[in-house]
Amino acid sequence: GNFTNHVLKESIQLDGPSLPNNSTTTIMFRYLNQSKLEENKDYLIYSHQNEAIYGNNKKVSRYKPKWSHHREKRLPQVIIIGAKKCGTGALQEILRLHPQIVSPREEVHFFERYQQYYLGLDWYRKQMPYSYKNQLTLEKTPKYFITPEVPERIYAMNASIKLILIVRDPAERVISDYFHVRASHPNILPWNKTFKEEILNTKGEVNISSYIVVPSLYAVHISRWLNVFQREQIIVVDGDKLITDPLSQITKVESFLSLPHLITSKNLFYSQEKGFYCMQYTSGYKKCLGKNKGRPHPNIDPQVMSKLRRFLEPFNKHFYTLVGYNFSWPNS
Ligand code: A3P
Repeated sequence: GNFTNHVLKESIQLDGPSLPNNSTTTIMFRYLNQSKLEENKDYLIYSHQNEAIYGNNKKVSRYKPKWSHHREKRLPQVIIIGAKKCGTGALQEILRLHPQIVSPREEVHFFERYQQYYLGLDWYRKQMPYSYKNQLTLEKTPKYFITPEVPERIYAMNASIKLILIVRDPAERVISDYFHVRASHPNILPWNKTFKEEILNTKGEVNISSYIVVPSLYAVHISRWLNVFQREQIIVVDGDKLITDPLSQITKVESFLSLPHLITSKNLFYSQEKGFYCMQYTSGYKKCLGKNKGRPHPNIDPQVMSKLRRFLEPFNKHFYTLVGYNFSWPNS
């Protein structure tokens, strides 16, 4: 239909050239396949209730607004740096519900892989989705958290970048990592090693250099980041709360990013079948994370768990001091 432009300007937030009041604009509405819409947040305007209206760029490209040249691929202003198996995927997916956040589907592994890093920042930028200038580009690669070279490299790109670290009970994280590596990368851990054999050495002590123990030494890793970045540049999200009360953590992140609180309880629902919160889009389309997120964990020998928790305790205490928050993770 035809809309006078002062009405249009009132009701739609436009990131483009200003519209003269005394003219009219034609808006064409088309029906688009819901699941495709959610996957392709390429084309987006806001309704006056601040709800996002998504479009699939492939289907609407003929109707691209004139100001679409304002969409660019930009370097990330926000990075989820880790920690692996703490809910980084869920956090990224839920944040993608926000109309002012765009994020690539894949982990980019730019700053920690030599062969990617030396392709340069322009290559990195090209891995990002298109965004309007009022949107933030968010990247997520959990390996960054534990890779010593990464903080300096990110700082060299953007000294005032915002960083998101999500952590959960580090002993639970070790279990999650074990079952993840077994399922997804069976060649990394010797296939016949049990959890106990993987984390304990022949003397029965926790193996500090085990591939699945190292990422849980949060204090060791965060120290390196705090040597480079201001504490205020890093938000620490509680991954255990992200499971039980995701909105509490998402609201914190929206505030940290100075974004309006547009992700609401309407966007999240608990699925009995999945056993986790899932997402509901404005269109009504629903989506849970895939099978590789939220795997059932077989029971672990309580004595092994207790040993692991006692080993992690001093690292945890140091971490609480460094970030200024006591997570009270179990210590035996
Ligand atoms: P498990 O699969 O071991 O349960 P990451 O994305 O960093 O790899 O983290 C995966 C973990 O995210 C899962 O570990 C799961 O516990 C947690 N998680 C948090 N919120 C979730 C959600 N809404 N759906 C699925 N998994 C979620």
